[in-house]
Amino acid sequence: MTRPLQNRRILLVIGGGIAAYKALDLIRRLRERGAAVRPLLTAGAQEFVTPLAAAALAGERAHTDLFDRAEEADIGHIKLARDADAIVVAPATASLMARMATGEASDLAATVLLATTVPILIAPAMNVRMWQHPATRRNLATLRGDGVRVVGPNEGAMAEAEFGPGRLAEPSEIADAVEVMLTDSRPAPGFGFLAGREPAEAAKAGALAGRRVLVTSGPTHEPIDPVRYLANRSSGRQGHAIAAAAAAAGADVTLVAGPVSIPDPPGVRVVPVETARDMLAAVEAALPADLAIFAAAVGDWRPAEARDSKIKKDGAAPAPVALVENPDILAAIAQRTTDRPRLVVGFAAETDSVLDNARAKIVRKGCDLIVANDVSPAGGVMGGSANTVHLVGRDGTVETWPTLDKDEVGRRLVAHFAGLLGT
Ligand code: C5P
Repeated sequence: MTRPLQNRRILLVIGGGIAAYKALDLIRRLRERGAAVRPLLTAGAQEFVTPLAAAALAGERAHTDLFDRAEEADIGHIKLARDADAIVVAPATASLMARMATGEASDLAATVLLATTVPILIAPAMNVRMWQHPATRRNLATLRGDGVRVVGPNEGAMAEAEFGPGRLAEPSEIADAVEVMLTDSRPAPGFGFLAGREPAEAAKAGALAGRRVLVTSGPTHEPIDPVRYLANRSSGRQGHAIAAAAAAAGADVTLVAGPVSIPDPPGVRVVPVETARDMLAAVEAALPADLAIFAAAVGDWRPAEARDSKIKKDGAAPAPVALVENPDILAAIAQRTTDRPRLVVGFAAETDSVLDNARAKIVRKGCDLIVANDVSPAGGVMGGSANTVHLVGRDGTVETWPTLDKDEVGRRLVAHFAGLLGT
């Protein structure tokens, strides 16, 4: 059996932090999955672990600034950057993230990260206050915008007797994220995206065979007049990823999608809509379904009246736009007495009190499960490529997943729902 990272070359940049010791375990785990690992230690990293230990575990020479200055001709930073299929930065310290975000090439690690075109995954680890500092939030948003993947940090007890997000993701989680990254970025025309990988969490092919699945995704556009509308920042990526994963798991999928700029997922019946009322009508028309997942960011309000001609501004007069509430599509379907899907899943994008709000929502709406995600600056950027989700059940139980790429969240959710639906 081929291993999931067989023949993959990973350059592992180890940053300077107390969590650097876990990078040694990561080397072992990546190699177990078949990867060749070349370690590169920053000066800070060498305060915590030695190049010798990293080299011994990797079975390869470890690179450091000192080595490279002396022997740039032997293996230069450009070659280091090129001779890899992916670069993993673990632990990614606040300082390394800052250097990456500003494109500073002040040491070997930062230079290689600037010179590369291969996919990059960072596993941040730092003091909770450093993680929450606006400067780190900005750098994180910049890096995500540049296409850098992020795994973790996890929440938990930290050095200095503090608690909160900032702990390095577990080596197995980082290795999972490497697999996802390399699978996603590997062009595989003609194959499903499950090809070549078999993590335990991925939806098994056929797990939803014979099931009808309904997914809503994207924002809604609520017209004000022929040229203006009310909208939100939803990209549709998470809902579309769920629809794609459900189709890959064998389901008959209808995706009711608001206006998005991403492609239709393969193997899915897409019903494009603009407004919340259109979305409700399309959802009702798609019933019956075994599983309904409401991932759309439906506008809560719409202009009471959509004008036929463009509204003119009128000096001091207040904007002539009164709002009325939109129908709640999730609640309408969850509370149906006929044709209620067996499993109705809602989403909750919250900026604060994520779990308490999700627990209240599940009761108010009558759904079976809420997938809550933190869209505050500390949780992740709405419209970004990664997501940190908490699964909240009707009994109030919570399962928190590490920060993952939205495609991977989609696959794991589908596997989870398939398990709940049973055989
Ligand atoms: O009430 P809130 O908007 O926070 O609830 C979010 C959940 O409800 C999501 O699953 C969303 O798709 C769904 N929803 C809906 N129709 C609305 C508002 C929200 O289906 N009008």
